[in-house]
Amino acid sequence: MEKFKILPTHIGIIMDGNGRWAQKRNLPRYYGHKRGIESVRRVVKAAKKYGIKYLTLYSFSTENWKRPKEEVEFLFKLMEERLKKEGEKLNKQNVRVRFIGNREQLPKKLQKIMEDVEELTKNNDGLNLTFAINYGGREEILQAIKKLKKEDLKDLNEENFKKYLYTKDLPDPDIIVRTAGEKRLSNFLLWQSSYSEFYFTKTLWPDFSEEDFLKVLADYQRRKRKFGGLT
Ligand code: IPE
Ligand code: IPE
Ligand code: MG
Repeated sequence: MEKFKILPTHIGIIMDGNGRWAQKRNLPRYYGHKRGIESVRRVVKAAKKYGIKYLTLYSFSTENWKRPKEEVEFLFKLMEERLKKEGEKLNKQNVRVRFIGNREQLPKKLQKIMEDVEELTKNNDGLNLTFAINYGGREEILQAIKKLKKEDLKDLNEENFKKYLYTKDLPDPDIIVRTAGEKRLSNFLLWQSSYSEFYFTKTLWPDFSEEDFLKVLADYQRRKRKFGGLT
């Protein structure tokens, strides 16, 4: 097993390219989403193996509702089915599962499964695995502002604003990975990514392997993070 001197504490992944993976094979888009689950399993395994503390996976954006109803419903069904099946396994692996995003608009059944998995894994202290579902960075910031009380404003600062964000229990991502060749954030972790490193790969999400994950870790070794200061 390769050893790395500097490991990112928190890796965020924008899992993109499921549709294109399927289209390349003349298959309907949902095949790509199904295959994408296997990549999720691979990266969770790799993250555990290399001692990554936090892994956050962008699974459904607040803008993904613009897709055809059938695709949206398929994605939620897939999440329900997989979470129900894998929740127990993740628990045995000491993984703590969380969800970030606006839950209210999600199907009730999915909401319930999300709550159950969070509850089941809440005392685990291994990998912190977070799924961003119906997540949008702008929505997150707005809902935070709406929760603020008048008396909060006087002493409001970056630290205490954080507790109103969905990510209140997570450190900022050290590196954000996006697959499938697109080079944009698409509303992922806007507040939290202010000093994140970025890693872009052309690999489509269903093809993303442990080797690809290792390339991210290897690349991270060479980054010089300055946070506005001098090295
Ligand atoms: C990512 O793959 C999965 C979701 C956004 C839910 P896409 O479905 O965006 O795949 P492409 O970008 O169309 O290939
Ligand atoms: C971003 O991918 C959202 C997720 C990966 C869940 P999209 O495929 O929706 O992003 P755009 O539309 O290409 O920016
Ligand atoms: Mg896409």
